[in-house]
Amino acid sequence: LPTTIPTLLWSPASKALTLSSYPPPTPTPSQHLIELHSTGLTRGELTWPEPNSCPHPIPGRDFAGIIVGSPPTPSPRPFRPGDRVYALTSFYRPGHARTYSVAETTELARMPATLDFHEAAAVPMSALSAWQGLFTKGGLTAEERSGENEGKSVLITGASGPVGLWALQLARWSGVRSVAVVRTGKEGLVSELGADEVVVYEEGGLREWGEGKVGVEVVFDCAGGKLLKEAWTVAKSGGKVVGIAEPPKDHCPTDGVKEDVKGEWFIVDQDGVMLEKITDLIDAGKVKPVVDSVWKLEEWGKAFDKVETGHPLGRVVVQV
Ligand SMILES: NC(=O)c1ccc[n+]([C@@H]2O[C@H](COP(=O)([O-])OP(=O)(O)OC[C@H]3O[C@@H](n4cnc5c(N)ncnc54)[C@H](OP(=O)(O)O)[C@@H]3O)[C@@H](O)[C@H]2O)c1
Repeated sequence: LPTTIPTLLWSPASKALTLSSYPPPTPTPSQHLIELHSTGLTRGELTWPEPNSCPHPIPGRDFAGIIVGSPPTPSPRPFRPGDRVYALTSFYRPGHARTYSVAETTELARMPATLDFHEAAAVPMSALSAWQGLFTKGGLTAEERSGENEGKSVLITGASGPVGLWALQLARWSGVRSVAVVRTGKEGLVSELGADEVVVYEEGGLREWGEGKVGVEVVFDCAGGKLLKEAWTVAKSGGKVVGIAEPPKDHCPTDGVKEDVKGEWFIVDQDGVMLEKITDLIDAGKVKPVVDSVWKLEEWGKAFDKVETGHPLGRVVVQV
């Protein structure tokens, strides 16, 4: 292993990123050492508290790469040198905008055989957030065309974003009717990926859309703000508003919400076993990642501009 490797370091104090030469990580006895190929960027990640609480924060919360070293103790889910893997890793450790990194066995999954490294790096954070939003938190059933989901609907705000595009595809796979809320111009992609209905958002439009309707079982909010506030009004009685962008309860309007609607905010869990189910769905051609663009590590500035203000269609990926 080289003594230093190219590493993108974030300074929360000066709010600046610097591409530096920095020592590679030393795996703990439970960690794998991985030669990275690509990492995915996520809007807002530079200001999230957890990743920036570690001593040397590095952006890029998920990756795709090849195992180069494994823990000495055997594991029930072994990964060996040469295996192509991907993962979302703990927010309390440095990320993956560097050429070597580490991951726990519990975080790792086999990479889909049908994807290249850039496509694979676009998956873990977004697909796991969508799976947990719909099934773990939203209470919909995680099974192909499940009878349990018959007649149920989910409304997805921010449906053209990385997480929203996965939520649409997983809704289609599990037999849940989906309503995608998007800005004008993004109707085509969300329809292609499974939206049963598309609402082009204009202020007040969601309240209007919900008027006279029973409402949806689950609102999955991937946008926050005004859109989240209006989305409360389209959940049916006893339904749920599940959010990842901002805590739904902070945006509950004072009028127009049906009885017993619950708000739930969550932070995505790193879960290699769940990610491996997504691997299987990808290889079976049921779902797929959408990559907006791929940038070199030296182009980190442009890559972050694209994520934060460039309205990407799908995930922005950095080749490390
Ligand atoms: N809690 C967690 O564990 C967790 C995990 C992953 C992500 N997140 C957060 O969840 C959010 C969604 O993640 P993401 O990766 O999908 O990122 P994203 O790039 O923020 O995607 C959000 C989508 O929402 C759309 N949108 C925003 N405001 C809108 C509006 N008023 N009308 C219509 N569409 C609107 C955006 O469209 P435009 O591009 O046109 O603006 C974009 O397509 C982000 O804030 C991210 O930081 C949280």
